[in-house]
Amino acid sequence: MTKLAPSILSADFSKLGQEIIDVEKGGADFIHVDVMDGHFVPNITIGPLIVEAIKPVTELPLDVHLMIENPDEYIQMFADAGASIITVHQEACVHLHRTIQLIKRTGAKAGVVINPATPAEMIKDILNDIDLVLIMTVNPGFGGQSFIYQTIDKIKQIASWREKFNYSYDIEVDGGVNTKTAKLCTDAGADILVAGSAVFNRSDRHQAMKDIINATK
Ligand code: DX5
Ligand code: ZN
Repeated sequence: MTKLAPSILSADFSKLGQEIIDVEKGGADFIHVDVMDGHFVPNITIGPLIVEAIKPVTELPLDVHLMIENPDEYIQMFADAGASIITVHQEACVHLHRTIQLIKRTGAKAGVVINPATPAEMIKDILNDIDLVLIMTVNPGFGGQSFIYQTIDKIKQIASWREKFNYSYDIEVDGGVNTKTAKLCTDAGADILVAGSAVFNRSDRHQAMKDIINATK
């Protein structure tokens, strides 16, 4: 069963709590939280304060995507704020194995993200240690960008290694996911779809989520 993680990056921040309650009612499986620091990506968004504020609003796991430099310095803060899953970019971690252990020690699930230009091979040696692989299907930084189709082969590669080596990580994709691209991702092996603008840019979020899931069938 494909799972959906609406990205609140495209939500109406003036009523963020209601937005989260709305997508939870509509069947969302996770709340995807995009954390940007203005260094690793050219945008600044959410910090631990907001994560802490939204935690009591929802029963859904908070899937915290760290697009920041020096993630080691902030992992504990996000875990304390209520993150259930913490994902870090391979490109931002010099000692990725250490960073993954740090996340695990907080009790959160640990995931690694790779940008569109990063080959799957870059994370091959950490796959046995992680709960989630997040494959960027746009360059991180903004919502509403177009899906980069070359990433499909990478989703397939990550899925084939999971099968071959009997690993247990989930495969999540992020960026440009909509009714046109969702099925390509799930056919390639994705289990969790992040969708920002395709959910929150429509007035009926429940219908928007249903449309994305139905498009995968
Ligand atoms: C992009 C973020 C995404 C973003 C996706 O840097 O990581 O989570 O919100 O937005 P859409 O679905 O609009 O491409
Ligand atoms: Zn994201």
